[in-house]
Amino acid sequence: MLIVGAGLTGLCTAVRLARAGLVPTVIDARRAGSGTTGHSSAKVSLLQGSMLQRLARHASTETVAAYIAANRSGQEWLLDLLRERDVPFDTRLAMTYAVTESGAKDVEAERQASRDAGLEIIDVGQGDLPFPVLDAIGLPDQAQIDPVATVRALVAELESFGGRVIEGIRMTGSSFTRPWMVSTTAGEVRAEHLVLATQAPVLDRSLDFARIKAYRSYVLAYPVADLLNVPQSMSLSLDDPTRSLRTASTGEGDFLLVGGNGHEVGHGGSTQARVDEIHAWASSHLPVDEPAWSWSAQDYHLTTQVPHIGAVPGTAERLFVATGYDKWGMALASAAGELISGDILGSAPAYAEALRAKGIRTADITETAAQGASVGGRLVGDRVRLAAPGSGQTPPGEGAGRVEGNPVRPTAVSTVDGRTCALSAVCTHLGGVVAWNDAERSWDCPLHGSRFAPDGTLIEGPATSDLEPVTE
Ligand SMILES: Cc1cc2nc3c(=O)[nH]c(=O)nc-3n(C[C@H](O)[C@H](O)[C@H](O)COP(=O)(O)OP(=O)(O)OC[C@H]3O[C@@H](n4cnc5c(N)ncnc54)[C@H](O)[C@@H]3O)c2cc1C
Ligand code: FES
Repeated sequence: MLIVGAGLTGLCTAVRLARAGLVPTVIDARRAGSGTTGHSSAKVSLLQGSMLQRLARHASTETVAAYIAANRSGQEWLLDLLRERDVPFDTRLAMTYAVTESGAKDVEAERQASRDAGLEIIDVGQGDLPFPVLDAIGLPDQAQIDPVATVRALVAELESFGGRVIEGIRMTGSSFTRPWMVSTTAGEVRAEHLVLATQAPVLDRSLDFARIKAYRSYVLAYPVADLLNVPQSMSLSLDDPTRSLRTASTGEGDFLLVGGNGHEVGHGGSTQARVDEIHAWASSHLPVDEPAWSWSAQDYHLTTQVPHIGAVPGTAERLFVATGYDKWGMALASAAGELISGDILGSAPAYAEALRAKGIRTADITETAAQGASVGGRLVGDRVRLAAPGSGQTPPGEGAGRVEGNPVRPTAVSTVDGRTCALSAVCTHLGGVVAWNDAERSWDCPLHGSRFAPDGTLIEGPATSDLEPVTE
């Protein structure tokens, strides 16, 4: 029983299996929780921005109801575990609001979709936000958690049942037949059941790559002297750009987390400009000064909207994936644990069938075709746009990167901390040409979101190997 990825998905799956008497091993390329989970805003909420109206365009009423049931079940299980392990969390009103006319239309659409699906939302007017709001809905008694403390609690729970997490081991491939012979950076491992809890599946056997988009968004943490001076609700705007707020009490003090400005990974120009723009907005709308930290993370959207959680067809329920949480993976990852462990143990939850019984809708075909065209366009266009050979050019300035050279062998050149590195600009996953991310000083692939450090080391994403250095 091998689970790849020690984020919320992998750990919730492992704990459920361990409690049922199995002894799962979880490996992680980096550290437990070091992926999106540890960088999440971590609102465990059934009110999820514009999710229900989007689901309703792509799926039947039964599937939307099953989505809510999955989130409710995942939320309850996760919060029960935190209570059992004495990990504090806050109960809050979740709010979805708008300050623009077009955002207000989306709030109204979400109000309708929520009521159609039986979610007990309420109208909250202005809520506790200190700036004018056009419309807002809310859901009481949702939760905000500390994702790092949650990961620690899950690891402790897993270990108490004999399971284990091994950090610093990356999966690099697998045999095509069972038992799975899984190659890793620490050697080959044999597994009867293999769970890919890596966000984007690291094997391309689930056909998710044709319909996957990676979205990155940003969070700034502002110290606050008195938490009661800032909004207590967990809010998300449906305007463009979006804004997300929640408070966080930590051993290092109290903070207001301000997030938003999501965009497709490797698309949309300067990422630092997005961070600066959130700070400018926070400074003018909220009682905050300078952020103590800022960070960003990514999650995956499926063009078919409903997350893909379960067995890969044709693998006799022995190879599992969980992806497409669309930045709402806190309750969903816990539900993924219930779904996947249920498949393995023969105890699927009541909502499983309806969640997975998704037919093909016109919205799926349209969005998947647009994504295919976008991927094709970037595959070719990014090469065609390349400048003439780069040799002889001045290296990029500190903190900058550019792609140069010829379309067949593009080179990614960057200078960070005084060191200039030249790498193949071709992503080792499926050949996208990487783009420079100036906020995080990384090379990001616009096709499926793999990211690489300035020296080529793989950071995250479906790729399993580093960018090659160019020695010439
Ligand atoms: C900025 C931001 C804010 C968010 N806020 C919220 C929120 O408020 N509420 C909410 O519900 N959701 C939120 N989300 C979404 C939520 O955080 C994610 O959906 C969830 O954390 C995904 O968990 P995961 O375990 O599937 O993935 P991850 O936490 O990314 O775990 C995957 C793990 O797999 C490992 N891995 C990857 N490849 C390999 C390999 N080849 N070999 C070994 N290990 C590998 C990684 O190192 C990583 O630890 C947010 C997302 C973002 C980006
Ligand atoms: S992540 Fe798929 S090609 Fe780069």
